[in-house]
Amino acid sequence: MNIFTNTTSTADIDPIEVVRRELSRRVTPARKAHIERVTTLLEGLTERFDLDVAAARLAGLAHDLDRDIPSWTAFALVSDWRLPVQPIERRHPKMLHGAITAARLRRRYGVTSDSVISAVRHHTLGDPSLDDLGLALFVADFCEPGRRHSGTGNAREILALPSLEQMVCRIIEFNERRFGPLEEPTAQLYARLQGD
Ligand SMILES: [Fe+2]
Ligand SMILES: [Fe+2]
Repeated sequence: MNIFTNTTSTADIDPIEVVRRELSRRVTPARKAHIERVTTLLEGLTERFDLDVAAARLAGLAHDLDRDIPSWTAFALVSDWRLPVQPIERRHPKMLHGAITAARLRRRYGVTSDSVISAVRHHTLGDPSLDDLGLALFVADFCEPGRRHSGTGNAREILALPSLEQMVCRIIEFNERRFGPLEEPTAQLYARLQGD
């Protein structure tokens, strides 16, 4: 697997098709199954909250495209592409995948949607700049039915809330109870949503 070379000509190809093809060689079967469940749930949220279906499909399919790359590769890409990352993402290199895939989408796959790029970039920690697509991906990633930590009942309760803002707040509260104090971008997102 050579992730430094762009072997795919993307000039006239739908990025969704490019990502679908790349998924088969970049992620494990279990990861791919998670990605498909997230995308299905995200498409449901898209319909419910009247978001752009194609953008949601691309964000869902792409969000964990680089989740299975080795740490040394992740650090090399972050360095080569001069990507700004959070301290916690450096300490836990598995968390670098959002920044890497977001950059890959723009640099290699010709994606121009800031909304898609931002949703993918910030799907792990969240960020105060997230729009509705970003919030929806954050929710779908947490609530997809294969997640053990969220629990079916918990996910169902979250998805029954009336707004994406409330769903994200509930997830952040859950994560704070589970993992302790929030990282800066997560705390800022929570503060913004409480004020909305
Ligand atoms: Fe992820
Ligand atoms: Fe994910």
